[in-house]
Amino acid sequence: MTRYMVTIAVAAILFVPPVIAFPSLSCNPWSFAGALPSEATIETVTAVPEGGSFGGGADDVAYPVNPTGLPALCAVIVKVQSSANSSYRFGLFLPTAWNGKFLTIGNGGFSGGINWLDMGPGPHYGMATVSTDMGHNSTAEITAWALDNPEARTDWGWRATHGSVILGKQLTQAYYGGTNITYSFYNGCSTGGRQGLRELQEFPDSFDGALIGAPAWWTTHLNSYLTQLGIYNLPVTDPKHISTAHMAVIADEVVRQCDGVDGLIDGIVSSPELCAFSFTPLLCNDTTDTQTTNPDSCLNPAQVQTAKNVYSDVYSPNGTFLYNGLTLSSEDQWFILLGGPQPSPFGLGYDRDFLYNNQAWNWTDFNLSRTIALAETTHPYGATAAHFDISAFKQRGAKLLLYHGLADGLVPTRGSEYYYNETIAAFNVSRAAVADFFRMFLVPGMQHCWSTPVGAPWNIGGSFQAGVMGPGYWSVPGFEGSKRHDALLALVDWVERGEAVESIVATAWRSPLNASSGVLRQRPLCAWPAKAVWDGFGDEDEAASWRCAG
Ligand SMILES: *[C@@H]1O[C@H](CO)[C@@H](O)[C@H](O)[C@H]1NC(C)=O
Ligand SMILES: *[C@@H]1O[C@H](CO)[C@@H](O)[C@H](O)[C@H]1NC(C)=O
Ligand SMILES: *[C@@H]1O[C@H](CO)[C@@H](O)[C@H](O)[C@H]1NC(C)=O
Ligand SMILES: *[C@@H]1O[C@H](CO)[C@@H](O)[C@H](O)[C@H]1NC(C)=O
Ligand SMILES: *[C@@H]1O[C@H](CO)[C@@H](O)[C@H](O)[C@H]1NC(C)=O
Ligand SMILES: *[C@@H]1O[C@H](CO)[C@@H](O)[C@H](O)[C@H]1NC(C)=O
Ligand SMILES: *[C@@H]1O[C@H](CO)[C@@H](O)[C@H](O)[C@H]1NC(C)=O
Ligand SMILES: *[C@@H]1O[C@H](CO)[C@@H](O)[C@H](O)[C@H]1NC(C)=O
Ligand SMILES: *[C@@H]1O[C@H](CO)[C@@H](O)[C@H](O)[C@H]1NC(C)=O
Ligand SMILES: *[C@@H]1O[C@H](CO)[C@@H](O)[C@H](O)[C@H]1NC(C)=O
Repeated sequence: MTRYMVTIAVAAILFVPPVIAFPSLSCNPWSFAGALPSEATIETVTAVPEGGSFGGGADDVAYPVNPTGLPALCAVIVKVQSSANSSYRFGLFLPTAWNGKFLTIGNGGFSGGINWLDMGPGPHYGMATVSTDMGHNSTAEITAWALDNPEARTDWGWRATHGSVILGKQLTQAYYGGTNITYSFYNGCSTGGRQGLRELQEFPDSFDGALIGAPAWWTTHLNSYLTQLGIYNLPVTDPKHISTAHMAVIADEVVRQCDGVDGLIDGIVSSPELCAFSFTPLLCNDTTDTQTTNPDSCLNPAQVQTAKNVYSDVYSPNGTFLYNGLTLSSEDQWFILLGGPQPSPFGLGYDRDFLYNNQAWNWTDFNLSRTIALAETTHPYGATAAHFDISAFKQRGAKLLLYHGLADGLVPTRGSEYYYNETIAAFNVSRAAVADFFRMFLVPGMQHCWSTPVGAPWNIGGSFQAGVMGPGYWSVPGFEGSKRHDALLALVDWVERGEAVESIVATAWRSPLNASSGVLRQRPLCAWPAKAVWDGFGDEDEAASWRCAG
């Protein structure tokens, strides 16, 4: 008898009808009949149960980790013929509990793969979510696919992103019975930042709000500049060459000199632009003693010049601005661009396979201004996102929220500031007027897109940020769904309710990528040029002890 009653009780709990807006959803190919043009074909349609997992696994070499713990959803893969001899694919998550919104997710580097891992958060927010493979199949640092292949470059440049947005929206509206999407958003970092800016500049109807991280926006300038950064430190046999040990020595000296400039000694350089850095303490003084016994502990004058080059903005001989140097506090990531026997694939691969289209191209002949002049002339494949006048986007009431780590050693942080300045110039208005539709948040101590070497709060629910913590996470782990902590939700609020984003509380864990290790500290990020200021008495690790000022 008792056992019988328990069974009834459990059954009663199990059969509480779920609150589903679309009870007649049917996750099969016929639901999408007629929703796609003839160049697009559906590869697979898969029903994923509550708590399930979906993705490309090892076949998706760029994004082999599948998200787990998903809400119930319908996963669709589509292949689109983009020209006579090119195609791209995209993936779409259609959650059973849909909130009417649509989210596009970006890629990174030269990745050719559907970014399933970073699509995972989308359905948790209730959003239909799309991501494209950009028209090729490779990891982030491979460019061989671009050689002799202008159509594939065009897919990477913009066509795969735009097509996926358009077709993803069509499939979404078909699946939910012709219901219109209410709002569309974007979340991408690095190349993903470029993709989002490129899309909203040229196709202002695509998004109502875009969250753009560390954008690699100026392809014609940036990628060749990355080659230049590598060459500053080459060849490795040159006395000017700095080792990774030297980079750590420089990083420590930057903290020593620049940490306190922001008013608080906490190991985090929050105002690198205010630090009048002296290179003198880095110099070896006794070449017969210090430099021979421990050459990695100090720098010779040529090595100091290498470091100065890395921080310096570059101009062509005719005075044209080419790109901004890396920022003080970025040194922990210098190994990516400066650590190899040749320039990094992000620069070298681009110059060789996109720009010169010559497998035998030799970086030893490199000339930055000549290379950029060629890129400007050929404007390879429309990748650059440098149309600063986004009036049409603004006039729709759409909002742009950009963030960039101040310790980014891959895409120079000041390049985002330059982008912001150029937007102000293009609109010919005050900074305050631009802030009505475009705000920027610099993240002290954050590296490229995520993480920190100095315990700085960094996670704001940006692209890649949940995924790097584990395949089951979404939003900011432990603060899921909070618009104070999650920049995407803050953006949603700005777009839908007109609440402009003044600050976002960033989170750091004791072990940077381990949410179980416990929160180390939280601090607000402020809309540039405002900065977070400590109140002088509260717990420095509590967001409530800080306010935005300036
Ligand atoms: C991508 O290429 C790899 C080989 O490099 C292959 O194993 C994989 O199946 C390919 N993935 C797709 C989605 O075609
Ligand atoms: C793609 O097709 C175009 C037009 O037919 C042709 O000019 C081009 O060489 C082809 N590219 C490749 C990589 O096959
Ligand atoms: C969807 O939007 C279009 C264009 O604004 C409109 O014509 C149509 O009636 C809407 N459909 C529904 C179901 O609301
Ligand atoms: C070398 O001398 C300068 C100037 O006296 C000093 O600042 C610096 O710390 C010395 N360098 C080393 C590695 O001791
Ligand atoms: C590039 O040129 C240098 C000499 O300028 C030569 O030593 C090197 O082998 C060349 N590299 C390639 C890949 O051709
Ligand atoms: C100046 O240099 C840049 C970069 O090399 C080039 O793109 C531009 O065409 C040059 N301008 C003139 C007027 O020569
Ligand atoms: C690079 O090319 C420019 C012309 O674009 C030239 O003025 C400059 O002298 C060259 N630099 C070097 C180091 O050869
Ligand atoms: C942006 O503009 C401000 C104000 O004019 C200036 O101080 C800053 O140096 C500019 N930043 C860049 C990267 O050009
Ligand atoms: C910007 O606006 C000011 C005053 O409104 C005007 O004097 C100036 O010519 C404008 N500049 C440009 C580049 O349009
Ligand atoms: C994460 O931190 C927790 C708590 O300190 C620890 O038990 C766990 O082993 C850590 N996980 C990893 C992957 O390091």
